[in-house]
Amino acid sequence: MHKSDLVELKYLSEARATINVLGLTAIVDKSISSNTLHSVTGILFFDQGYFGQILEGARSAVEETWGRIQKDPRHHNIELLAITEIEERRFPKWSMKLFDTQEFSDTFPQFAELLAKIDNPNLKTLKVLRSLWREV
Ligand SMILES: Cc1cc2nc3c(=O)[nH]c(=O)nc-3n(C[C@H](O)[C@H](O)[C@H](O)COP(=O)(O)O)c2cc1C
Repeated sequence: MHKSDLVELKYLSEARATINVLGLTAIVDKSISSNTLHSVTGILFFDQGYFGQILEGARSAVEETWGRIQKDPRHHNIELLAITEIEERRFPKWSMKLFDTQEFSDTFPQFAELLAKIDNPNLKTLKVLRSLWREV
């Protein structure tokens, strides 16, 4: 694979109000099996009704997966932040790893300060998440 074939895609979206733990589990289970098949890796953040996801892999595989994700009625207001060519994967061991705010802060302490703002009722979660997802 040429290095330039490897890309990373970042987006944010809003979960449908009906989503619950079972629904999340179904999404992650499906993602893990499909991503394993297509050599796609990455992370999925969920908290306060918002998703943030990073997908990485061969451009064709990431674009195909992205096509399916965009059509999924379980979320909406999907905002693509970037598709970037990368030299190597950042999450090679995770075919899709789900995080909430606490787990994310524990795993990536460099973002703990920013993430603490999500719990601040005066700040919009989406605004905090948008700056987090630009920096991560
Ligand atoms: C927030 C969110 C993240 C998702 N992430 C992935 C993913 O990483 N890989 C994947 O194959 N499907 C993912 N899905 C599921 C796809 O949208 C889709 O339902 C699934 O791939 C099955 O597609 P199909 O019904 O067209 O076969 C995600 C769905 C949501 C709502």
